[in-house]
Amino acid sequence: MEVQEVLKLADDIIFSQTGKHLDNLQEGILRGTWQRQKYPEIAKTCYRSEAHVKKVASKLWKLLSETLGEDINQSNFRYTVERWQLSIVSSHFGDNAQVGKFKVCGNNPESLETPNLKKQNQETSSKTQPKQRLDLSDTPEPNLFYNRTSELTTLNGLSGIGKTALTLQLIPEIQHEFDYIIYRSLRNCPTLKTLQTNLIKFVSQQQEIELPSLIEHLRSSRCLIILDDLQTIFTPRQLAGHYQPGYENYGTFFKQLAESSHNSCLILLSWEKPREIAALEGENRPCKSLQLNGLGAEAGEIFREKRLAEEEKWSQLIDLYRGNPLWLNIIATMIQDLFGGSVSEFLSYDTLFLGDLESLLHQQCDRLSESEKQVISWLASEAEPVEISKISANLELSPSALLQAVQSLGRRLLIEKVKQGEKTLFTLQPVFIEYVKNQFLKVG
Ligand SMILES: Nc1ncnc2c1ncn2[C@@H]1O[C@H](COP(=O)(O)OP(=O)(O)OP(=O)(O)O)[C@@H](O)[C@H]1O
Ligand SMILES: [Mg+2]
Repeated sequence: MEVQEVLKLADDIIFSQTGKHLDNLQEGILRGTWQRQKYPEIAKTCYRSEAHVKKVASKLWKLLSETLGEDINQSNFRYTVERWQLSIVSSHFGDNAQVGKFKVCGNNPESLETPNLKKQNQETSSKTQPKQRLDLSDTPEPNLFYNRTSELTTLNGLSGIGKTALTLQLIPEIQHEFDYIIYRSLRNCPTLKTLQTNLIKFVSQQQEIELPSLIEHLRSSRCLIILDDLQTIFTPRQLAGHYQPGYENYGTFFKQLAESSHNSCLILLSWEKPREIAALEGENRPCKSLQLNGLGAEAGEIFREKRLAEEEKWSQLIDLYRGNPLWLNIIATMIQDLFGGSVSEFLSYDTLFLGDLESLLHQQCDRLSESEKQVISWLASEAEPVEISKISANLELSPSALLQAVQSLGRRLLIEKVKQGEKTLFTLQPVFIEYVKNQFLKVG
């Protein structure tokens, strides 16, 4: 986009909102910002003091942000304009069109139009010039964190379900929206200080001044930070989501990122959902949680690749192993090694074979508290899903200890909830039933 087009666009937006055109200084600010100048440079070019330029700029960003419904500032103005095509949504396409709202459209705006609309647009644009007018009001809401500022997303799910794979898949699709994308695994339990120093080092490498704190970097640039394997900073053998001693400040940090204004996004990948996230998430809040469940029929591709036979039985396998791609890979290898690829032979045994899965399940179950172990041991002996009151009647746990244990197992996604009319029942996945029978009951 040429700077003149940008100025024309901004002028249209401001005019629609205030009835006034951009003045020289406002134009100078936008022109300078587009050309990646900082305020001191813009001030020189416009023959004004830096303080005055900053004051006018701040009002201008505020106005643009309010009109566009998104945080716009000096550091994100250019890529926001590049990323977005702004369109005026109105019921008519005539010259007297009223400005309704501005909406985001994808990289290829034409692909979002209906054929009728496209025709209407062509007619309109041949008369007027050269503004693009699209009705995008039916565009579905963007997924996950697309086109949102200041967002924190937790992706939690069992080991092997595909959290890391999904996130890595997402990066190429969204990378143009960010100045920096940083992926860090917390596998080696870095302290918050170590992590922050490391992140600041990365984001400040191309900047003139090093800002004092990470949050200020997250304000001045649009960063996507992905923190994987978050569960390693939680204490094992306690209820889910308790930070290890010395790591509690991570909770404060996440809360700060969720509550303060900045232009960046944080994605947390974890087996356990952090407890403060539950209190911060909500429909209109900047904190979201996505529980990653297994694959459906498409998991058959894993079996195809492993050359398993009897395709008609594959869905049974996918269901038993709840579509967990890692588990399905392990099981498919076992079926190939032991049964020459015959799924029916594998399924003909009464027990569910775990094989190499056992050590993976052990890593997860080893993190459980004593009360959680009691609950899943008892659940493993029940053939059908049960109500909490029934669990309570059979275990020597106080009501509050039992509720906490069930809630915590839910946060680890180790128990399944089943709705039966008004009632909520609880059960274990078949794989965990088998594991628990082999382990806890054997020991007990
Ligand atoms: N959609 C998918 N289709 C096929 N294979 C997949 C898919 N998603 C993940 N996998 C494979 O499943 C395995 C586990 O995925 P991944 O490592 O992303 O799980 P994870 O949830 O991050 O596990 P952990 O919490 O233990 O790190 C990997 O080998 C990955 O390639
Ligand atoms: Mg992972």
